[in-house]
Amino acid sequence: MEKDEKIFVAGHEGMIGSAILRRLREDGFTNLVIRTASELDLTNQKMVFDFFMDEKPDYVFLAAAKMGGILANSRYPAKFIYNNIQSQTNVIHSAWKSRVKKLLFLGSSCVYPKGCPQPMKEEYLMSGKLEPTSEPYAIAKITGIKMCQSYNSEYGTDYISVVPADLYGPNDDFDPETSHVLPALIRKMHQAKIGNKHEVVVWGTGSPRREYLYVDELADACVFLMNNFDEPEMINVGSGEDLSIKELALLIKDVVGFDGAIIFDESKPDGAPRKLLDSSKIRKMGWVRKTNLEKGIRQTYQWYINRSPGSHSEPKAKNLTLRAGSVTEES
Ligand SMILES: NC(=O)c1ccc[n+]([C@@H]2O[C@H](COP(=O)([O-])OP(=O)(O)OC[C@H]3O[C@@H](n4cnc5c(N)ncnc54)[C@H](OP(=O)(O)O)[C@@H]3O)[C@@H](O)[C@H]2O)c1
Repeated sequence: MEKDEKIFVAGHEGMIGSAILRRLREDGFTNLVIRTASELDLTNQKMVFDFFMDEKPDYVFLAAAKMGGILANSRYPAKFIYNNIQSQTNVIHSAWKSRVKKLLFLGSSCVYPKGCPQPMKEEYLMSGKLEPTSEPYAIAKITGIKMCQSYNSEYGTDYISVVPADLYGPNDDFDPETSHVLPALIRKMHQAKIGNKHEVVVWGTGSPRREYLYVDELADACVFLMNNFDEPEMINVGSGEDLSIKELALLIKDVVGFDGAIIFDESKPDGAPRKLLDSSKIRKMGWVRKTNLEKGIRQTYQWYINRSPGSHSEPKAKNLTLRAGSVTEES
C-alpha cells in the first residue's frame, strides 16, 4: 500500500476497525475513506455498490459485522446470518466490480469445528461440525472466506482472510451483560475496588484456557498481511500463548489493584477446555507480537478508566455477548 492510495476501512467505529484506522493514520496513510453505519448500511446493496463506484478505493479492510457470544447467537441467529452474509457479500462483490486492488476479510476462530484439535491450524477449516450455538454466525464467516477464495480463483482478485484470536483493547465492550470475559473481569474488579467489595465471583472452574491478542497487534498484523500476504488460504493471527481463566483473573486483579478474593462458581459451565490458534504461518513470515498480555491489559485498563473517570456508568453495549467464564455480580 502506498501512503496516498485510497483505503476504505469498513466498520471503523468498532474495536478492530478503529484500531486499523488508528494504525493507518499513525503510519501516515492520508487517503482514508470511512463511513458510519448510519451513513452507509452495508446490507444495502445499491448504496454499497454506488459507494464503491463513486469512491473506487484501492484497498479495503472489511471489519464490519454483527457478532456476539452464546446468548446473542442463540437469540439473534437470523440477524447475524442476514447482516453478515448480506453486508460482506455487498462489499466483496462491489470491490470486484470497482476493481479494488486488495481486500482483507476478518473471519473468526468460531469457523473452526467444535472440539477442534489444539492448536487450531488453518487446514482444520470445515473438518468437522461447528459449535451449534454460533453456527449461523460461523457459516456467514465461512461464506466470506469462501467468497474471497472463489473471487480470487474465478476473477483473479487478491482477497485475503484473517482469523484472529479473541481480541481486547480500546473500544471493547465493557457492558456487564454482554462483554467478553476479559473486559468483564476488568470492569468487575474495578467496580469492586472502588466499591470496597471483598469478592468478585467468576463463572466456572477457572480452568478453561484461552488466547488473547491486543487489538492494536491485530491491526499491525492486518497492515502487515495487506502488504505481504496473497495466498487464497486464510491465515490465523494470535499471540501463540494461552492461559487459564484463573491466571487471567489473577493478572487483571494485579493490574487493577483489587485486593479482595476471586471466587470461582463451579456450578456454572466452563465451555471448551482450550482455544488456541496455530499462528506459525504468520510468524514464519516474520510478524511478531510486541504487546504482551500484561502490557495490553494495563493499556486497556487505562483506556477504560480514562473514558469515564470516577463514573460508574458504562458505555452502551455494541452487541450482545455472553461467554463461558463471564463474571457474575461481585458481592
Ligand atoms: N472482537 C473479537 O474478539 C473478534 C475476534 C475475532 C474476529 N472478530 C471479527 O472482527 C470483526 C470486527 O469485530 P469488532 O470486535 O471490531 O466488532 P465491533 O466492535 O462490534 O464492530 C463492528 C462494526 O461493524 C459495524 N457494522 C455492523 N453491521 C454493519 C452494517 N450492516 N453496516 C455498516 N456497519 C456495520 C458496527 O456498527 P454498529 O455498531 O453501528 O452496528 C461496528 O461499528 C468482525 O467481523 C468480527 O467477527 C472479532
